[in-house]
Amino acid sequence: SSFSMKLRINLSKLGLPSNILDFVIKPFEDYEKFSQIPEAKGDIAAIQSDAFFLPLYELYLTYGGIFRLNFGPKSFLIVSDPAIVKHILKDNSKAYSKGILAEILDFVMGKGLIPADGEIWRVRRRAIVPSLHMKFVTAMIDLFSQATDRLCKKLDTAALTGEAVEMESLFSRLTLDIIGKAVFNYDFDSLTNDTGIIEAVYVVLREAETRSTAPIPVWEIPIWKDVSPRLKKVNAALKLINKTLDDLIAICKRLVDEEELQFHEEYMNEQDPSILHFLLASGDDVSSKQLRDDLMTLLIAGHETSAAVLTWTFYLLSQDPGVMAKLQNEVDTVLGDRIPTIDDLKNLKYASRVINESLRLYPQPPVLIRRSIKEDMLGPYPIKKDEDIFISVWNLHRSPTLWEDVDKFNPERWPLDGPGPNETNQNFRYLPFGGGPRKCIGDMFASYENVIALTTLVRRFDFELAPDAPPVKMTTGATIHTTNGLMMRVRHRTTYPIKPTIPVVETASPASIIEAAI
Ligand code: HEM
Repeated sequence: SSFSMKLRINLSKLGLPSNILDFVIKPFEDYEKFSQIPEAKGDIAAIQSDAFFLPLYELYLTYGGIFRLNFGPKSFLIVSDPAIVKHILKDNSKAYSKGILAEILDFVMGKGLIPADGEIWRVRRRAIVPSLHMKFVTAMIDLFSQATDRLCKKLDTAALTGEAVEMESLFSRLTLDIIGKAVFNYDFDSLTNDTGIIEAVYVVLREAETRSTAPIPVWEIPIWKDVSPRLKKVNAALKLINKTLDDLIAICKRLVDEEELQFHEEYMNEQDPSILHFLLASGDDVSSKQLRDDLMTLLIAGHETSAAVLTWTFYLLSQDPGVMAKLQNEVDTVLGDRIPTIDDLKNLKYASRVINESLRLYPQPPVLIRRSIKEDMLGPYPIKKDEDIFISVWNLHRSPTLWEDVDKFNPERWPLDGPGPNETNQNFRYLPFGGGPRKCIGDMFASYENVIALTTLVRRFDFELAPDAPPVKMTTGATIHTTNGLMMRVRHRTTYPIKPTIPVVETASPASIIEAAI
C-alpha cells in the first residue's frame, strides 16, 4: 500500500484523533494523487530544440495523451488526448487562462483578444466578433484576389527569368497586405515596398518569437531594457507602430463622424469596410490603448498564421504532383478564367480540402497554451491551480491511433460533398482553429483567404521545389516556419488562360433518329 496509508495506520495506532490524522496525512495523499500523471523521463534538453513540438511527439508515443515534463523547478503538462482537450477548451474552459502566453505577448498585444482573460476578454470578444460578419467576409474576397494578383505579377518576372523565389517571405508579405487592409484599411503594399513601418512590424514579430522560445526573460531586467540594442530597436518599432495606429484611428474617427450613420448588424462602409471602421461606427467605447492592443492582435493573428498555412500547403503540393494536378483541374473547371466569387468558393471543394489537410499536417500554431486557475480533473487525474499546460495540436493531428495513414497528405480523407472538418464534427481530434469560447474569430476569413490565394496562384503557375533548394525543415516561433525558406521554381502554366469546359449534352445518335423516323 501507499506511504500515506502506512502512515495513517501507524499514526492511528498511537491513538491520534481522526481530524488530526486527516490534517497530517492530507499533504502526503495529495502528493501521491498528483504524481499519478505519467512523468516523461529522458533527455529533456531535446525539448529546447528548434521545433520543440517534435520531441513532444516522441514523448507522446511513449507516455500517452497526458504526461508531465519537468524543467528544474518548472513543470508542464503535455496534453494530446481529444477528450481532455475538449474538457480544457470547451466544457470547463472557465477554469483556464492563457498563462505564459499572456506574459510573453504582453509587450506587443497588451490586453488584446488573444492574451486577455476574464472580464476584459469577455467584453472585447463581444465587441469584435460582430465585425467579421458575412457581408464583411464576402467583401474581402475581392481583396484576397487583388492582393494575390500583385503576388502573381512578381512571380511573372520569376517565371520569365527562371530564377528561384523564396515563397515563405512572399506569403508573409501577401498576408500582411491583406490583413492591413482588412483590419484598419491600411495598404502596407509590402509586396512592392519596404517602408519603415513594414520593417517595424517584422522587428516586433521576431521579438515575440524570440520571447516565446527564450529561456531567460532578459527583457524584464530593468537595466537591460535600456541598454540592449535589440530591445531599443524593438521599442522604437513599437513606437512607430503605435503612432501609425493612432493616426489610422484618428483618420477613421473623422470618416465615421462625417458619415450619415445607420448602424445595424451587417453594417459596412463600402469605401472602408475595415474592422476598425465597424468598431468605431458601432460606438465601441474603449480606451485608445485597448483599441490599439486589439488591432495589433488582429494584425499578428491574421498575418503569421495564414502565411504559414500557404507556405506549408505549397510545400506539400510540391511533394505530391497528383494532388496538384487534381487541384489545378478543379480550379480550371470551376473558375475558368473568372475572378472567384463567394459562390465559386462553395464549388472549390477539393481546394478547401487541400487547405483542411494542410492544416492537419501543419497546424498553426502547433501548440496551444493554458494555465489552470483552479483545481480540476483531467481525465482520471486531479490537477492543482497554476499548472502550465501545452495542448499539442500537432500530436492530435498526427496521432497514429486517431487517423488512418496519418502522414499521408490526403485531401479526400473527408468526403468532398460532406461538411468541412472542424473540431466539433471531428470530436476534437482536429482543431485547426481551436475550440470552445476562445476559438479563432477569423476562421472563415482565413479559410476564404487561403483558398483564394491558393487557387489564384496554381491557376496561373506550376510550382516545384528549386532544384538546388536547401532541405525544407521546420522551426518554431508562434507558427511553424521553415529553417531556410521555401525556394521554388515557378513556371507559367502552358494551358493558361483556360477556356471553360463545355458541358456534354446528351443527344440522340443518328441511328436512333433514323429508327424513330421509320
Ligand atoms: C485564436 C488559428 C487566422 C484572429 C486562434 C486560435 C487558433 C487560431 C488555433 C485559438 C488559440 C487558443 O485557443 O489559444 C488561426 C489560423 C488562422 C487564423 C490557423 C489562419 C489560417 C486568423 C485571422 C484572424 C484571427 C485572419 C483575424 C482576422 C484570432 C483571434 C483569436 C484567434 C482574435 C483569439 C480569440 C479569443 O481568444 O477569443 N486562431 N487563426 N485568426 N484568432 Fe486565429
